[in-house]
Amino acid sequence: MDAHEFERREMHRILQPSGARPDCRSTWTRRSFLHNSAKGAAGLAAAGFLPIINTLDLAYAQGQSFRFAWVSDTHLYPKNVNTRFVEKAVRAFKEVQAMNPPADFLMFGGDLAQLGDPVELQLGAELLKEVKIKTYFIPGEHDWYLDMGATWNKMFGASPWTVDHKGVRIIGLDTISHAPDFWTSRKYSPKERMSHMATLDGTLGGAWSAVGTRQLQYLSTQLASWGKDRPVILMTHTPLYEYYPAWNFWVRDWKAVHEILAPYSNVTNVHGHVHQPLYNEIGKMRSIGMLATSWPWPYAPEGVPTLTKPMIRADPGDHFDGVGWSQLSVAGGGKVDNEYRMFGRKKALADAAVDSGTDDNRNQVLSPRISDRL
Ligand SMILES: [Fe+2]
Ligand SMILES: [Fe+2]
Repeated sequence: MDAHEFERREMHRILQPSGARPDCRSTWTRRSFLHNSAKGAAGLAAAGFLPIINTLDLAYAQGQSFRFAWVSDTHLYPKNVNTRFVEKAVRAFKEVQAMNPPADFLMFGGDLAQLGDPVELQLGAELLKEVKIKTYFIPGEHDWYLDMGATWNKMFGASPWTVDHKGVRIIGLDTISHAPDFWTSRKYSPKERMSHMATLDGTLGGAWSAVGTRQLQYLSTQLASWGKDRPVILMTHTPLYEYYPAWNFWVRDWKAVHEILAPYSNVTNVHGHVHQPLYNEIGKMRSIGMLATSWPWPYAPEGVPTLTKPMIRADPGDHFDGVGWSQLSVAGGGKVDNEYRMFGRKKALADAAVDSGTDDNRNQVLSPRISDRL
């Protein structure tokens, strides 16, 4: 057994004792929407081809009503290289601005640029002018590794940060820049470093995703002054657990993160980077993966959380298929609703009864998580 595997076993032994679940006063619910297509829904239903999008509801015991939007992973190139991703970002920002009733704020979750080029980041800032509501930012690796965050921090501000909004403590973390230096000894130029980060395969870019010692301390401090059953939303670019390390779909210090979070029963991690609908629970923490506006990544070949619902596979002939943004609302009593706003999917034909989402996972196993198989 290698050291990492040993750690993973320890993690689950400590944090997943029999019966440990998120706070039962918070209920996780799901609505399944069946969507039309050009062929006609009835015909597709008969043929068994109905695509499904899920909206996920999370109810907190206390709190006030508000809603916010999440957009991430726009991956903008300079306009003279590619306008396809620009069009999608524009569409998402326009739709966010058109939300009625309006969102309290927009969370931009990283990967605004494709290769960290200041021209790309400037283009992103220009497009974001469409959005008039307050916008919070956390970086993605594509924004960072050309100049190690200099342009990003100057334009969009540094992380971490904390905002208390209507009874919810919201913490934005930088999971991009806190891993040990992997690149200097390899003598990568800034462009080479960035290009290695821009691939799905993480072996050349290193295990760059981490919360890091300084932010772990920050997280501890921010939570120490917050009640253990009060709602917390952690905004991160990468997921705060080990989904698939080979693609950096994780943070390398997830064990330390969860040790800090373990006493808190109302923690939701909203993250980008994976470009796909994703849902997971570890101990008492829930994680929700967000859509990209740019392109959908496939599910990892292993380690897919058992509660994940299969996403609609993208039509390779339709650049707008399988991508979009998210609308999240906190309803009366502090109920948070996440609705994937997938471009190109139009009419909702069915709305299943609310369910707990925690007792039907026997029907949701795609491929067991690595940890679950140990
Ligand atoms: Fe991305
Ligand atoms: Fe990313």
